[in-house]
Amino acid sequence: MPAHVVGPRAVGECRDVATSTGDRSVREHGLLIGGEFAAAAETFDRCDPAHPQRLTGRFAAAAGTDVARAYAAAAEAADGWARTSAVQRGEVLRRAADLLEGRTEEAARRLTADMGKAIRDARAEAGRAVAILRYHAADALQPSGATYPSAEPDTLLMTISEPVGVVCAITPWNFPLAIPAWKLAPALACGNAVVWKPAAAASGSALLLAEVLAEAELPPGVLNVVTGSGAALSEPLTSDPSLAALTFTGSVEVGNGVQSAAVARGAKVQLELGGKNPAVVLADADLERAAESVAAGAMLATGQRCTATSRVYVQSAAYERFVSLLVERVEALRVGDPYDESTDVGPLAFAERLQAVRGYLEIAHEGGAAILAGGTAGDPADGYYVAPTVLAEVPADSPLLREEIFGPVVVVAPVPDLDAGIEAANDTPFGLSASLFSSNLDGALSFARRIASGQVHINRETAGAEPHVPFGGMKGSSNLQREQGKAARRFFTNSKTVYVRPR
Ligand code: UN1
Repeated sequence: MPAHVVGPRAVGECRDVATSTGDRSVREHGLLIGGEFAAAAETFDRCDPAHPQRLTGRFAAAAGTDVARAYAAAAEAADGWARTSAVQRGEVLRRAADLLEGRTEEAARRLTADMGKAIRDARAEAGRAVAILRYHAADALQPSGATYPSAEPDTLLMTISEPVGVVCAITPWNFPLAIPAWKLAPALACGNAVVWKPAAAASGSALLLAEVLAEAELPPGVLNVVTGSGAALSEPLTSDPSLAALTFTGSVEVGNGVQSAAVARGAKVQLELGGKNPAVVLADADLERAAESVAAGAMLATGQRCTATSRVYVQSAAYERFVSLLVERVEALRVGDPYDESTDVGPLAFAERLQAVRGYLEIAHEGGAAILAGGTAGDPADGYYVAPTVLAEVPADSPLLREEIFGPVVVVAPVPDLDAGIEAANDTPFGLSASLFSSNLDGALSFARRIASGQVHINRETAGAEPHVPFGGMKGSSNLQREQGKAARRFFTNSKTVYVRPR
């Protein structure tokens, strides 16, 4: 995810206070500290990305002192929560899953109001968060250590795992429910207390998830939520003496900064950063399906996924046919109001994102790229819309092929064969996800082995992740710590080796 201003907006920027849900009363949201929703000295407003004149909520802007109070509440609650049984902790997550499922429609609308995701995708994301909570509810009961034979007779030798203590979770705005669920659920299941800083643009969804967990009887102080500006809060979030582990998804710059600060305090750190994800399409692929998958991977969620497809290397023999199929699929996508059930691609999440993506479109226009679809951005006053864009004839060193755009923009280029495709695909500082489209098994296995990427998809789009398998990147896309699945449990616990000899 690229770095950008994720900070609060000035109060009053949304002039019309009608809300996107039709409710004309402005909902004020507090911070969650020690089980109480409380106001902060400052507030910030968020506007609807599809209707920028509409206010979606007024949120508490935490100060450093609020973060310190959140850590103190977490530190106080941590021991008691660690001493509950895993069965009890799993029950809380299972209840939270049921409650969130019951509020799917409300959660989806809140999510769309936060960051503009098309309502069908928002609903699917709420469902995904429910599935993640359920997975970790069940995983809480899985073995959490192992027994070993000992060199000593009659000695029981085993490992046990313990919660790390207080976890800080910093989450992005592009998956306002799913990413928090996959960080908070395992952290809580393993018996940790959490201080959570959601991205400012995901504050509404974050507070809904926090409400659901509180209603599921998560004890006070076990989860604390500090909304506000990432830039203002990263220092207090990473310098608190109770910080034991930090889990972060966001930009390379911010991620590396918080990692240095947290590691200096002796905390464990897991980072999930950007992507510049390639797809290689060979001539023996089912080209129709490949075009469908690339269009979805590049354009759905308005391209605002770390796993979005952004570079497509097509074997020359299939280039023309594939590109025309891709353009056809991309042009068939319906761009528009994200609350409309038929919309495929909503607006970008906020004005600064539109400005950044517009900058990349200017590079395309000025650099002489062939614009095969899209290439235009709307007036920000009408919502932060960009037409799904397919570019060709882009030089290999162009920012369009090197930087994460985080918008509905994909670049296509011909390559002679699989080897050249892999070489081009690996020519990036990132390594999050990659796809190969081919019907040749040998080539597919070779691609899976040689591609420098944490996720590899054969005949599937680059985006998407199932909750029970590890997720994370290589190279500049992460610090090589994985999240989700069993990797989450390893990160959120410390292992202890115990030798027991009878008297
Ligand atoms: C997905 O592809 O569905 O921020 C998940 C991101 C990634 C998660 C992607 N951390 O886009």
